[in-house]
Amino acid sequence: ASKKELVGKKILVTAGPTREAIDPVRYITNHSSGKMGYAIAEMAASKGAEVRLVSGPTNLKKPFGVEKIDVDTTNEMYQAVLKSFEWADIVIKSAAVADYRPNFVSKNKIKKEDSDFTIQLTRNPDILKELGKRKKTNKILVGFAAETQNLLYNAKNKIKNKNLDFIVANDLTKEGAGFKSDTNIVSIIDRNGQIENYEKMSKKDLAEIILDKAKDLFI
Ligand code: PMT
Repeated sequence: ASKKELVGKKILVTAGPTREAIDPVRYITNHSSGKMGYAIAEMAASKGAEVRLVSGPTNLKKPFGVEKIDVDTTNEMYQAVLKSFEWADIVIKSAAVADYRPNFVSKNKIKKEDSDFTIQLTRNPDILKELGKRKKTNKILVGFAAETQNLLYNAKNKIKNKNLDFIVANDLTKEGAGFKSDTNIVSIIDRNGQIENYEKMSKKDLAEIILDKAKDLFI
């Protein structure tokens, strides 16, 4: 395959965690470093694609040739992703999105008291599910699944619920898979339930596999 095989393709990638404030000094988030999504964005740009990267807070440098849109909260990511959804030929959602946010954000720092403290959480929108609803033909939608149990079962359900073309499932219990590392260990499952299991590999090599698969499906 030629090196610039994604010339003419528009690819939207999400990466990193989202962050939900509790008060001006505290927040709820997860362990995503952004490495998986940035690797995909960088690889896609190096293959000639036009790339928009919607990124939660990370310490990573913007990959060369990529348009980066910074967001904090799930609602901000939702807005940014919807804005670019029509534009994109291929959407790859590797961000680890906070499913809940505090019911309300305190304007001032919450002071500690002797009693326990309870934070009530509200459901955030499921961004990928909304994209799945809006998806027409001629658009490829790729999700990730990060699980600690029943990985393949949960991943297959996500393909259906979110109307995905395929899902990249990482088993968070495996050393060298999932958050923070430069490697990942995944199974890729397509709409027909066909499963391909991959050995541990760099997130860069996995990025190439995901992009090749998405390109092959794109008509
Ligand atoms: O960033 P790294 O440190 O490199 O780690 C990589 C990773 C583990 C974050 C990545 O490989 C990964 O698995 N990302 C998805 C993590 C996740 O949130 O999985 P999930 O099973 O909760 O969500 C399933 C899919 O729905 C994901 O594509 C997610 O982006 C999307 N989603 C989830 C919830 C929500 N409210 N909106 C969404 O769009």
